[in-house]
Amino acid sequence: MSIHTLGRNSFGNAANAGNLMTIEEAYQLLNDWVPNDRLRLHMKQVAAVMKAWALEKQAADEITARKWELAGLLHDADWEKHPDDHCRIIIEELERRNIDPEVIHCIASHGPRYFGVEPNNTMDKMIYVFDELSGFIHAAALIRPTRYDGMDVKSVLKKLKTPSFAAQVNRDDITDAIARVNIPLEEIIQFIIDHQKDVQ
Ligand SMILES: [Fe+2]
Repeated sequence: MSIHTLGRNSFGNAANAGNLMTIEEAYQLLNDWVPNDRLRLHMKQVAAVMKAWALEKQAADEITARKWELAGLLHDADWEKHPDDHCRIIIEELERRNIDPEVIHCIASHGPRYFGVEPNNTMDKMIYVFDELSGFIHAAALIRPTRYDGMDVKSVLKKLKTPSFAAQVNRDDITDAIARVNIPLEEIIQFIIDHQKDVQ
């Protein structure tokens, strides 16, 4: 698999600002595009954490929180069926549906090293922060008999320093993402544990 950079930095149309799909419509798209339960769960977890961060840390209103949630829900929607064109396909679909450009840019910037799009605003930066860490923390939960129950930040930090654990999770991406926000890694790990543990 080789992911191609998107080759552009502008997405959607400014005239579509505030034009969002409902969460039900996003779920429908996921059900149509993503047969893999594990991948759908990943997107639901990132969505839950994004929405919670918007509401709790950014004092976002309902519409803004839905933007964060939608970006989380849809960011890997094309990954399973179009691995070589990951990100491009879902972006074009959202542009076709006249979705708010901020949601599209957020999805486009969730992996700057891969897609060549820099995270601009806080929503962009936080999806980059949450994406790999959310998957990593879920992998850590799966090997614990009690899953998320009793999971602590220290054990996650230790696993991050163990290259053989969840080796596919790129530690450099996590370090780069964290460096772009002024938030301690410990706080982010705890937030993810607290907000994705009950997502199904
Ligand atoms: Fe992801």
